[in-house]
Amino acid sequence: MIKHKEEMTEIDNLMLPRAFRVKDLIWETGAGDIYTWELAAESGEAFYFSPGQFNMLYLHGVGEVPISISSDSESGKLIHTTRAVGSVTRAMQDVKLNDVIGLRGPFGRGWPVKEAENRDLVIMCGGMGLPPLRPLIYYVLNHRKKFGNVFLLYGARSPLEIVYKTELEKLQHEKVIQVKVTVDKKEGQWDGPIGVVPSLLDQIEFNRENAVAMLCGPEIMMHYGRLALNRHGVDDGRIFVSMERSMKCALGHCGHCQWGADFVCKDGPVYRFADIAQRFNVREL
Ligand SMILES: Cc1cc2nc3c(=O)[nH]c(=O)nc-3n(C[C@H](O)[C@H](O)[C@H](O)COP(=O)(O)OP(=O)(O)OC[C@H]3O[C@@H](n4cnc5c(N)ncnc54)[C@H](O)[C@@H]3O)c2cc1C
Ligand code: FES
Repeated sequence: MIKHKEEMTEIDNLMLPRAFRVKDLIWETGAGDIYTWELAAESGEAFYFSPGQFNMLYLHGVGEVPISISSDSESGKLIHTTRAVGSVTRAMQDVKLNDVIGLRGPFGRGWPVKEAENRDLVIMCGGMGLPPLRPLIYYVLNHRKKFGNVFLLYGARSPLEIVYKTELEKLQHEKVIQVKVTVDKKEGQWDGPIGVVPSLLDQIEFNRENAVAMLCGPEIMMHYGRLALNRHGVDDGRIFVSMERSMKCALGHCGHCQWGADFVCKDGPVYRFADIAQRFNVREL
């Protein structure tokens, strides 16, 4: 059914993608399947979001996917980093500089940055878990004095799959926050740590009494990351995780992303672990 403009409801309007042009395009890794877009609204409108929120990106005639925003929320830039895994994200690999795509958002509840103020902060991520955490890292760097010791622990399957490599090296060099990167398997010139991300916790010292942790990546990584944090004195009330579920409307309307009593698009994607501990490891929920 085609509706006239005056018949459109608020939900109709939120379902309509707006046109965004690809202003910059970077291939992130040697593996060649991860691409970063900087987008600008065709209307010229500014884009506001909170660290940890996501957009629905629409490729005309193919489909729509949820992708986290990975830029500095205070820079006015809108950046997304995507790994090609299936029908939509693979088709998006053919998008070129200056092409126009559709975008709805921002959606969801992001990282609770206030919870980490005046405390030590452990940011732990694996693989494509880094892009959703990048806005949080920028926020910390922009407001460094508000936080205690800050650690970024990142793991990739191989050195070839490390995203934002140059940026990570710059952060390691500047030492404004402590950055540790590990890989599952050594390749080429790699002389850094080898092993799973949670093992990096043994290499850092933080305040067990007050530290807050924010995790993003494969669920198996977050599972072991949380257990390791518990062993290091961080309880589930101070651990936050970002969840991924398949989405359609992103408005809490269709039920596609239902997880227990929640809709991940609206109630998440970021959750306090203590609130979801009962259902985290339940399959097919
Ligand atoms: C809130 C949220 C934020 C997200 N942020 C990002 C982001 O910043 N960058 C990003 O690249 N992705 C992100 N994702 C994941 C992304 O939405 C999916 O990879 C995408 O929807 C897959 O769609 P597709 O049509 O390309 O693949 P589909 O055709 O739907 O899937 C094809 C195959 O890929 C597998 N697959 C689907 N999703 C994934 C996945 N995440 N990892 C590995 N295999 C998968 C499926 O099991 C299936 O076998 C996010 C998801 C959510 C819910
Ligand atoms: S995607 Fe429709 S309710 Fe979440």
